[in-house]
Amino acid sequence: MKKIMLLGSGELGRELTISLKRLGCTVVACDRYENAPAMQVADQALVFDMLDAEHLRAHVKSVDPDLVVPEIEAINTQVLLELEAERTIVPSARAVDLTMNRDRIRDRAAELGLPTAKYQYAENLDELLQGYREMNLRAVVKPVMSSSGKGQSTIEAGDEAGARAAWHHGVENMRGDRPKVIIEEFIDFDYEITLLTLRQKNAETVFCPVIRHEQVDGDFKRSEQGTFDMGALEAQAQNMARQITDDLQGYGLFGVEFFVRGQEVIFSELSPRPHDTGLLTLYTQNLSEFDLHARAILHLPISDITLLRPGACHTINAEQASDSYTIENIAKVEAIPQVEAMHFNKPSAYPNRRLGIVFAPDAPTAELARSHITITYS
Ligand SMILES: Nc1ncnc2c1ncn2[C@@H]1O[C@H](COP(=O)(O)OP(=O)(O)OP(=O)(O)O)[C@@H](O)[C@H]1O
Ligand SMILES: [Mg+2]
Repeated sequence: MKKIMLLGSGELGRELTISLKRLGCTVVACDRYENAPAMQVADQALVFDMLDAEHLRAHVKSVDPDLVVPEIEAINTQVLLELEAERTIVPSARAVDLTMNRDRIRDRAAELGLPTAKYQYAENLDELLQGYREMNLRAVVKPVMSSSGKGQSTIEAGDEAGARAAWHHGVENMRGDRPKVIIEEFIDFDYEITLLTLRQKNAETVFCPVIRHEQVDGDFKRSEQGTFDMGALEAQAQNMARQITDDLQGYGLFGVEFFVRGQEVIFSELSPRPHDTGLLTLYTQNLSEFDLHARAILHLPISDITLLRPGACHTINAEQASDSYTIENIAKVEAIPQVEAMHFNKPSAYPNRRLGIVFAPDAPTAELARSHITITYS
């Protein structure tokens, strides 16, 4: 029986824990707060700051896991690089380290020749203003260390006041203590996708049917799968995903994000782990992205990935902060044929925190189901 140390215990970690436990693993779920979703289903829970090198090192030593499985970005990746000499980091310490910061993975993608938006970096306000003037484009400014759209702004060309505000917004909402932002050409894409890419030890890389998603202020709100066809562009995205995941090495599932504009497929970023837009695979596929990640990291064969039905989902996000809250009308949602609600059981709410999701056969039904949900705070 393998012992897994899961670093990050959110809703994605909870589903991964369930998949791993079904395969006979013991899971120690870690996060910085108590009673996180994965801790509710794991064998053991540990609460500590995973960015803290000392704590992380000490806990890995005392748990002594077969596999260390990062589930979030905010982890001390230096420690993972050190530890890799003696134990397995999933998918590889290098993959986790390179993707923790946007700049490193973006530079690597560009070195590999993948098409990306034009970009520059800035480490202070003057550099940002200079880079932004040179680019002279509608631009997106993002901290190099952040996720879920935190610290992200879109500014028009020539809007110096907007650029200054974007610097401050980025720096105030970044992780870590080294201010750095990416200034990126705004891509007026037709749609954006995640290609769930599975790198395996004893077999070729395989892909899930592509997922199309919509983000609001850089945060995922809706996704769908099996409801549309990208035609020949899907193979283009697959080739790029194979190229970059081969470069990162290691075994497991990666969420590779692309923008699609006309006939262009443009690399955006990637997660070396299950992706939030792929929660939908719990509803649509024979093996969900969590089942697939679990199998790939345990080196179990995956004989096929089948889309059992098309689907769409819509997240349920909190509107305000509260120590306690209730998601209302789950019964009304469940009464709609083929609709399923999922509650993440997070202990408290804060603005925009993802508390649950609804799954449905298509996007309008997912939207309708979501509209029935209300959250009460007490
Ligand atoms: N250059 C761009 N042009 C147009 N839209 C963009 C650009 N960069 C980001 N976005 C929008 O913002 C979303 C979030 O950006 P990105 O994936 O880079 O950030 P993130 O904060 O790392 O998100 P997550 O970690 O949740 O995936 C994208 O999915 C896209 O909708
Ligand atoms: Mg993203």
